[in-house]
Amino acid sequence: MLHIDSVLKPVEARIRQCRPSFSRHVVDEIEYVLRRGMLREGTCTLRFEDCFRKRTGAQYAYSVSNGTAALHLGLLCCIEPGCRVLVPGFSFIASASAVVHAGGVPVFVDVDPETFLLDIDDAWEKTDESTGAIVPVHLFGNVVPYDGLLELAEEYDLRIVHDAAQALGSTYMGAELGEFSDVSCYSFYPSKIITTGEGGMVTTYSEELGHRVELLKNHGETEKYLHTLLGYNFRGNEVASVLGLDQMTRLDYFLEKRRSIARYYDLAIGNIEGVVPQRVTEGTESCYNYYTVRVDPAMELDRDMIVMDMRNMNIETLVHYPFALTEQPALRKYVTEPCQVAEELAKNVFSIPIHPYLTKREAEQVILALRTVVYRYL
Ligand SMILES: Cc1ncc(COP(=O)(O)O)c(C=O)c1O
Repeated sequence: MLHIDSVLKPVEARIRQCRPSFSRHVVDEIEYVLRRGMLREGTCTLRFEDCFRKRTGAQYAYSVSNGTAALHLGLLCCIEPGCRVLVPGFSFIASASAVVHAGGVPVFVDVDPETFLLDIDDAWEKTDESTGAIVPVHLFGNVVPYDGLLELAEEYDLRIVHDAAQALGSTYMGAELGEFSDVSCYSFYPSKIITTGEGGMVTTYSEELGHRVELLKNHGETEKYLHTLLGYNFRGNEVASVLGLDQMTRLDYFLEKRRSIARYYDLAIGNIEGVVPQRVTEGTESCYNYYTVRVDPAMELDRDMIVMDMRNMNIETLVHYPFALTEQPALRKYVTEPCQVAEELAKNVFSIPIHPYLTKREAEQVILALRTVVYRYL
């Protein structure tokens, strides 16, 4: 019998959940922007948008201040005030708060216990004539299957506003997400696939939607100080765009590294009883923004104890997310019934470190720690 306390030793240096990184020359480019003194959106932003548009297969791309603003704008362009909008019950708060800020009413749809994504059967049940849009959240990089979505959207004439905050680089049936969608919304928060500190992007295929996004993100201004509609200040900026351009040149490298770590985790976790990784949907090649696992509820493992032990071993282990959207006090008035699977996942999931600079040795340490901790409680 192992003496557990001798095994639960912290690894020497803390293994972090995510780790943004930039090229050396980005410092010179930022210095150039600072010396030039033109900080608001300009040529770097146009280049960043162009690069992003080409990479994601979209027709139009607009840089914005963050992913929440991207969703807010995408929804404003797609829904009428008061219309119902389907949102998965398991996501980051912004997937729902943006609906409310855009004048819609979130309707929470339960999720699949294995993929953690919107359950399309539940979406059918919750859709009616007053439903105007659906927000598929491609959670942790896993893509919501498009076939089911498109069928539902066609039947009820729904707009689809993709929450792709965590899905830059994910592909579905070999295609980039922007190639399929009316509107896709991305985030460049530091834990995302690429980061600009804070930032986001709206992409679309439609010239009309693109034009509206462009107007709304900049106070509805059509010429200097002439405003044809009331918009917002959701603009990006030049420093963020320099960072974004740099990050885009590294995107393929980031994806390759994340996918190779995920392949290793998939194999290794397959041998750990009681812990099951998120199931990637058929046709998806995930970007693995997070590598999230679920403790098997049948095994009566305590997620919080596992997370605490992992952290004590110097391995940053996070919970995405500890509450379902239906459990958020700020959303209470929109909740008509619980989302049972989402609420169960919120008690049982946790994310282990994954980022392009995680070494093979660190990944092995993560697995060793996880195995040791889980077997402690089995
Ligand atoms: C699923 C999801 N949607 C929306 C957002 C909002 O993005 P941001 O933090 O850039 O506003 C995030 C980011 O945290 C997210 O993870």
